[in-house]
Amino acid sequence: MAFFFANVWTMYGLVNEAMRDMVVSRQGEACWAEICGRVGVPSTEFVAMQAYPDAMTYGLVGAASEVLATPAGDLLRSFGDYWITFTAEQGYGEMMDLFGKDLLSCLRNLNGMHAHMGVMMPELRPPRFEVTEREGSGVPVVELRYYSKRPGLMPFVLGLLEGLARKFGQKAEIGHVGRASEGPDSPEIFEIRLLA
Ligand code: HEM
Repeated sequence: MAFFFANVWTMYGLVNEAMRDMVVSRQGEACWAEICGRVGVPSTEFVAMQAYPDAMTYGLVGAASEVLATPAGDLLRSFGDYWITFTAEQGYGEMMDLFGKDLLSCLRNLNGMHAHMGVMMPELRPPRFEVTEREGSGVPVVELRYYSKRPGLMPFVLGLLEGLARKFGQKAEIGHVGRASEGPDSPEIFEIRLLA
């Protein structure tokens, strides 16, 4: 997964730790060590509350894709789903519950939730979401617009949405519609049909 980084942004180590946890629990320690070796990171473990370069996280995804012979998009999608369980296990579950009692209210509150997290994580650079609701063939439909300066994370969001639907026991059809336009700041659009 080759990306050009025009920025020197960082992400909290919690993200790399979640990836480590996912790979180690499914493929084992040796596999994770092989992935880290390819990226040349100084340690196979990360400090959750420390900021690491985005390039490191993208590098880990790229190396995992090679080692596991799985497209990066597929990995990011399962990682999104895994993130929901992982963060709950890491003590963020109650905070998430505070920002949503069901899928719809959680989606409405994603910006508020990340803003709240920014108090504990001052270097957080969260994405931004816009939610529009409408009715479609008798079921509520949510259009979610995802804005981020970070490239290529659309499949991660898809996995997050699937993980959220599972967490709330909400039957839903979740689809990626596309980008609003060609521009670099253009959002990725998702459509979520809330089934009974
Ligand atoms: C309690 C649960 C959550 C925690 C603790 C959390 C925390 C974080 C952290 C630490 C980052 C890395 C960004 C940085 O460090 O600057 C991040 C990124 C991100 N988060 Fe959350 N988050 C949570 C739930 C969610 C949920 C439910 C969504 C749903 C869509 C979401 C969407 C994203 C996306 C898409 C990114 C990637 C960064 C980007 O697009 O620029 N997060 N989050």
